[in-house]
Amino acid sequence: MEPTRIKLVYYSPTGTSKKTVEAIAKGIGVDYDHVDLTRPDAATMKHSMSSTDLAVIAAPVYSGRIPLTAVNRIKNLKADGTPAVLVAVYGNRAFEDALIELKDITSELGFKAVAGAAFIGEHSFDASGTPIATGRPDKMDLEKAKEFGVQVKAKLAGLVEIPELEVPGNRPYRKRGGGDPRSPETDPDSCILCGMCARVCPTAAVTVSDIVETEKEDCTACTACVKNCPTGARHWEHEGILKVAAWLHENYSARREPEIFL
Ligand SMILES: Cc1cc2nc3c(=O)[nH]c(=O)nc-3n(C[C@H](O)[C@H](O)[C@H](O)COP(=O)(O)O)c2cc1C
Repeated sequence: MEPTRIKLVYYSPTGTSKKTVEAIAKGIGVDYDHVDLTRPDAATMKHSMSSTDLAVIAAPVYSGRIPLTAVNRIKNLKADGTPAVLVAVYGNRAFEDALIELKDITSELGFKAVAGAAFIGEHSFDASGTPIATGRPDKMDLEKAKEFGVQVKAKLAGLVEIPELEVPGNRPYRKRGGGDPRSPETDPDSCILCGMCARVCPTAAVTVSDIVETEKEDCTACTACVKNCPTGARHWEHEGILKVAAWLHENYSARREPEIFL
């Protein structure tokens, strides 16, 4: 099997899943198109892929699952026996049922999983007082991602039919995370009303006029607004999130390494 084109599909609010799949695509060494599912308009975009494409599909792990926003947007893809490389990117704690969930969702849509991987990205709740996998994927991760791409290419070259791929995880999946509606706060003294928080929000939960307002019910806690705020005005004050960040820092700071399933 020789794919003619890669479709790089990702939901990536803080950019780590995107960086990871770009490195994988470089390793595969075939030209690629981006299918970015991160922005609000992706909620209604449809994409069809053929059997000569190779899809590389990535999403972050939220509470050991694929975030619901990503699931709904991935469901707008249509495949025709399209081989797929499935990637879960997690913040150095655990990926639990995310990869098996991604495999189940994509196989329903007509993809055939040819390889899977779990890579590590800087945790969304990483902050200066509570570092968790800061700066990842780093150089070493990206080299491993590229090498994984090389291995995928070699596996595909030797295949006529794609056998069933085994990935870790349990069914039924873990219960999704939840809790009370919450969103980051904005410090009015340092906010310059540039609108970056609104532009990077995957669910259009933020509006900026002469103040910044956030629809808490629509906030997925992805933290893209915090990480992209040019003045540091956007930040978390929610006690539950701050507690989780401290817990993750204390218990999940030891470096984990990417895992691949071929
Ligand atoms: C609501 C939420 C839940 C998360 N749950 C997990 C988790 O269960 N395990 C983990 O290791 N990381 C978890 N993370 C961290 C993200 O998986 C990680 O930061 C990932 O790199 C983000 O991907 P992105 O940069 O492509 O958005 C969570 C992040 C958020 C915002």
